[in-house]
Amino acid sequence: MSLIMKLPIIMEESRKAFEEIMATTGSGRYVLKEHTGRHREIAASRENILARGDNLSFMKFLMDEKDLTGKLKLIYIDPPFFSKANYGSEIKIRSDKVKKIPVMKQKAYTDAWNRGLEEYLEMLAVRLMIMRELLAEDGCIWIHLDWHAVHYIKVLMDEIFGEKNFINEVIWHYKSGGVSKRRFARKHDTLLFYAKSDKYYFEPRQEKSYNRGYKPYRFKGVKEYRDELGWYTMVNRKDVWQLDMVGRTSAERTGYVTQKPETLIERILESCTREGDLCADFFGGSGTMAAAAERMGRKWISCDIGRLATISSHKRLIAANAAYSLYDEEGDEMADEEKGRIEADISLQPALVSDKMLLRVELLSYRPYSLEQIPVEEKYLPVIKKILDKDPLQLVAYWSIDSHYEDGINKPDAYLRKENEGIKTFYEAIGSDFGPVCIKVVDVFGNSAILTVEL
Ligand SMILES: C[S@@+](CC[C@H](N)C(=O)[O-])C[C@H]1O[C@@H](n2cnc3c(N)ncnc32)[C@H](O)[C@@H]1O
Repeated sequence: MSLIMKLPIIMEESRKAFEEIMATTGSGRYVLKEHTGRHREIAASRENILARGDNLSFMKFLMDEKDLTGKLKLIYIDPPFFSKANYGSEIKIRSDKVKKIPVMKQKAYTDAWNRGLEEYLEMLAVRLMIMRELLAEDGCIWIHLDWHAVHYIKVLMDEIFGEKNFINEVIWHYKSGGVSKRRFARKHDTLLFYAKSDKYYFEPRQEKSYNRGYKPYRFKGVKEYRDELGWYTMVNRKDVWQLDMVGRTSAERTGYVTQKPETLIERILESCTREGDLCADFFGGSGTMAAAAERMGRKWISCDIGRLATISSHKRLIAANAAYSLYDEEGDEMADEEKGRIEADISLQPALVSDKMLLRVELLSYRPYSLEQIPVEEKYLPVIKKILDKDPLQLVAYWSIDSHYEDGINKPDAYLRKENEGIKTFYEAIGSDFGPVCIKVVDVFGNSAILTVEL
């Protein structure tokens, strides 16, 4: 049967799955693991959330446990594109003690589907139905795709959201990639913009439109401007966006494969949301939407099934000093924090200059329990063993210290991240009261380990 004939069946099956999910409660179970940043001081009842898990169960969790049905103002998703490929992210480790460490690749996510497009469409259709439930009446959804599947998803979206709610097809045009001798170079992605209803919020923005020949028109009543290229007028932003991908040397670059530029998301956020609005990305990758939303004063929710994606987002959002809660899907073995052994020197002594106490923590060593937890190709294992023997702290992506650890929830006072010059291993704090100390280490492969010490 051709795919076009199967579409009604895909829709029907997805609708049944959707109804079943909606009829049950508690099918999405997530465990609160960490509060970051200024979070402890923030009494906001609806916090920013970073979650690791399947977005299907996570969205159900948001409905059942967080009461967010009908509350999201914007959903942006950048799902796998049906490219039939596997994606790996770069792992770069530097050490003075181990020379010539190659850049390793670790699997980030797969976009290969046993039952082809049918399986892919089923995966998305049911999720899009749930996203519609989560959207506010004046909210909207953006789906970021490319030539592989966008035309089929357009048809599904018309069915799920209604043709009349289709607002724009935005073309993101870039310079990189896509060259072939057998076709025109593929240089764009397509973003579908749908509203939940005709009450949707939209604020047009302006952009430059250069005059023909860059010369002044001098039309009456038309304001003209000039820059180094020539004369232009300001017009409402169009639906073709020329924006660069994240460059190799860009400060924004996380190393996560298929990372999108924040400038792209900024345009969506500035036209489709107001400050304080709650925005979600359920295929969050390296946390691009969350990072842009954080910078622009929007509340955000970001979820990804992959551990590399989650540590990329976490590192990026910690660096942005964001306040949020980190959740893990229950039963996710990566949520298990017994993945390695930490050795640390922790001491509490009277501070010299006041009547307070001085807490000192030195991270001495970290080792994952087994090489099986290191999901790189076998050819890299000898070099990993060398690093483990000679310079194991170089495997640490970041570590944190919570000096008042309680209820199994990590609320770090500080995160020490890997910088160019390596990882900082020393932490000091002055205070009058310190509770049990929790040290959590996350390695570059996404394994985590904790060490708790009663003082
Ligand atoms: C194209 S990438 C997103 C990249 C992201 N926009 C960024 O800028 O980094 C797609 C992501 O979807 C995630 N993903 C795939 N299936 C998922 C699922 N069922 N639940 C949650 N995340 C999923 C993958 O792990 C991958 O990180």
